[in-house]
Amino acid sequence: MIVVAGGSGLLGRQVVNDLLLSGERVRVLARDPGRARAVLGDEVDVRAADVREAGLVQVLDGASVVISAVHGVLGGRGDGPLDVDQRGNANLIDAAATVSAGVVLVSVIGAAADSTLELFRAKHAAEQHLAASGAQWTIVRAAPFLETWLDILIQTAGKSGRPMVFGRGELPIPFVSARDVAAVVCRASTDTTLRGRVLEVAGEPLSMTELAHILQAARGWDGTVRHLPRPVLRALAALARPVNPAFARKNQAAAALDTDPWDPSTTDAARVLGRAPLKASDAIGRFAGN
Ligand SMILES: NC(=O)c1ccc[n+]([C@@H]2O[C@H](COP(=O)([O-])OP(=O)(O)OC[C@H]3O[C@@H](n4cnc5c(N)ncnc54)[C@H](OP(=O)(O)O)[C@@H]3O)[C@@H](O)[C@H]2O)c1
Repeated sequence: MIVVAGGSGLLGRQVVNDLLLSGERVRVLARDPGRARAVLGDEVDVRAADVREAGLVQVLDGASVVISAVHGVLGGRGDGPLDVDQRGNANLIDAAATVSAGVVLVSVIGAAADSTLELFRAKHAAEQHLAASGAQWTIVRAAPFLETWLDILIQTAGKSGRPMVFGRGELPIPFVSARDVAAVVCRASTDTTLRGRVLEVAGEPLSMTELAHILQAARGWDGTVRHLPRPVLRALAALARPVNPAFARKNQAAAALDTDPWDPSTTDAARVLGRAPLKASDAIGRFAGN
């Protein structure tokens, strides 16, 4: 049986769906089981669990593999990456090791101890904890999801048809579909030859402005794309930090996405998927009718 922590999220829902379609037994851990069942369906085995709290060994009973698809980026005070991605993942990994389950950890391309982003430092710490845990493991490091950023561009466009790009939006970013990441996570959870491997999953490099133009073309929107200048992003991150850490993190991440170049050589996506990664137009189809 495969346990999915974060099974109610964008990636987690796709993972649960794919695993069920391939005949696996699945259990989902969610903080609000009612909300999780509303998105996953009543037939899915959902257990109440917060990865930061004690008692995880009981909800992992019978698990062969535990998938962590959680993050704390959107959380507020005391509920951010340090608590969820670092300490919460460590707690989940220790519980998985106690019940002799393997672990598939979803991380980020660029996870590093010296990253400027708290999320990337926390993911690095979780990766280190996993490698030292004694559990069988696979790490899936993903690039930014197409669906996440298309959703942001759609939200910022509102009724104007003019999405807001954070910063200059010129840097190529290897956006990947959450559907491709889910396929790699599912493969990693069942293919024992991938144990002890770090798989990097990236897609077609596109600048944020190009992504916004593809979205506008698909929606029949015209008008120029709007830009929020980098200094405004940085000022918002600094001003919000003491009062709204989640908002500060979002602005800091957007500023980093606009300035920090990606290494295009690092992707295992096509090899693991056996096909080219999905394109932006494939992910836009998910929002058809919005
Ligand atoms: N989105 C991206 O661009 C991107 C890029 C690279 C990597 N990733 C990684 O991919 C994974 C999934 O991301 P996503 O964008 O699909 O996330 P999402 O839609 O925002 O969902 C996050 C999930 O985390 C769960 N969660 C948060 N705090 C939790 C806690 N304390 N205990 C248990 N569950 C908790 C939430 O569950 P409930 O609130 O229902 O309890 C939810 O299911 C994450 O590991 C993320 O870091 C995402």
